[in-house]
Amino acid sequence: MPVTVVVGAQWGDEGKAKIIDLLSKEHTYVVRYQGGHNAGHTVVVDGEKYALQLVPSGVLYDHVVPVIANGVVVDLPTLFHEIDTLEGREISCADLKVSTLAHLIFPWHQAHDAIAEAMRGDDKIGTTLKGIGPAYADKARRVGVRAGEVVDLDRFAETVRARAIAENALIEQAGEPPLDVDEIVERFVAYGRRLQPYIADTVTLLHEALARGAQILLEGAQATFLDLDHGTYPYVTSSNPTAGGACAGSGLGPRDISRIVGITKAYTTRVGAGPFPTELLDADGETLIDVGKEFGTVTGRRRRAGWLDCVMLRQAVRLNSLTEIALTKLDILDGFESVKVCTGYRLDGELIHHYPDRSDVLARVEPVYETLSGWRTDLSEVREPGDLPDEARAFLAIVEREVGVPVNVVGVGAERDDYLLWTA
Ligand code: GDP
Ligand code: IMO
Ligand code: MG
Repeated sequence: MPVTVVVGAQWGDEGKAKIIDLLSKEHTYVVRYQGGHNAGHTVVVDGEKYALQLVPSGVLYDHVVPVIANGVVVDLPTLFHEIDTLEGREISCADLKVSTLAHLIFPWHQAHDAIAEAMRGDDKIGTTLKGIGPAYADKARRVGVRAGEVVDLDRFAETVRARAIAENALIEQAGEPPLDVDEIVERFVAYGRRLQPYIADTVTLLHEALARGAQILLEGAQATFLDLDHGTYPYVTSSNPTAGGACAGSGLGPRDISRIVGITKAYTTRVGAGPFPTELLDADGETLIDVGKEFGTVTGRRRRAGWLDCVMLRQAVRLNSLTEIALTKLDILDGFESVKVCTGYRLDGELIHHYPDRSDVLARVEPVYETLSGWRTDLSEVREPGDLPDEARAFLAIVEREVGVPVNVVGVGAERDDYLLWTA
């Protein structure tokens, strides 16, 4: 069973791309299975930063076939901009495959995203405004346009025109200016033509690869607590980043998967609205944001930050069947006198250890912390687990004890090689 899933264990931006880059060395196919260009996945190689939104993070390796599978919603302007940027930097995207079944994002999805956010007033979700929610809504309403439709460009043009006219009526009803239908049809037919060579039956492709014994890596975007079902609804994204979504979104079966790696930072961040039990609104929070450079890759928004929450991580283990954890950004805690880890919640005075399923209840819990001495040492050059200071080891031991699965990889810097690996 040579399939590995990488899934965010918090609210996104855990450093998934860096771990995917590391795991890509031993995988031939790297497959995005959900989300769209709301993702911002950063890999840093020799000081060169690659910020990927749609193209799988394994693309930086020549031996990797990058696959955008059926569960992804694809914004073609972004995809081609990304391909052009990568190819301009000598990274070939010639092998990229895009599933026939993946849904496309159109300008009306972005318009509806903005209208829906404006209508929520003070209760905004804080979406990326990329049209992700409306595109998935169209998929569920069975009016979406799929990538494979570009094989017949005349029909594709008719479909796009009909959809644009129908959506324009709704946009005008909401008091917004209509979109330019002719411009959209013309532009998307050109994108469609360019997309044709990338279109593939990726389900068959991946199963044939499996049959040949190829190693496949399924790259999650967003994260467990942004999951449409299991996240802090309605402050979530509109797909299922959790490991179950990896099967639906790629066409691989649950029994094909052997390894499910949950990625967590050594602390917690969130961008956008919604409950966040361990959020810090004090100087420690500022330090995490400043030292951790916690500004969104896609929207540039300042992230919210707080201590590591093991109640969430335990829930992430359950929801995803995590076999292991990769913990990133341990180096960001280097300067702290003391470091806290949340091990439980207090709800109306009572200690609870489970993660509440209601967002309004989660918003009311108070975190219970275990406080440890900080290590006050620069970890950025440490490469051997045995060279970690005792305090950093104590921190990792608490995480493993609380969460119940091993921490196998620890990140100590943004560069590709800034990690420590525990080998079995
Ligand atoms: P993703 O969306 O989960 O792939 O994560 P992002 O790329 O949005 O955000 C993670 C940020 O942290 C990026 O800027 C990475 O370069 C950086 N990063 C990843 N791992 C580490 C680490 O171990 N230490 C430090 N200092 N930075 C890291
Ligand atoms: P990566 O893959 C962090 C958040 C948005 C918002 C909510 C819904 O880089 O970890 P959407 O545009 O998806 O409808 O927004 O989800 N969000 C992310 N937060 N990292 C991401 O992706 C995110 N993708 C969406 O900020 O709160
Ligand atoms: Mg990100």
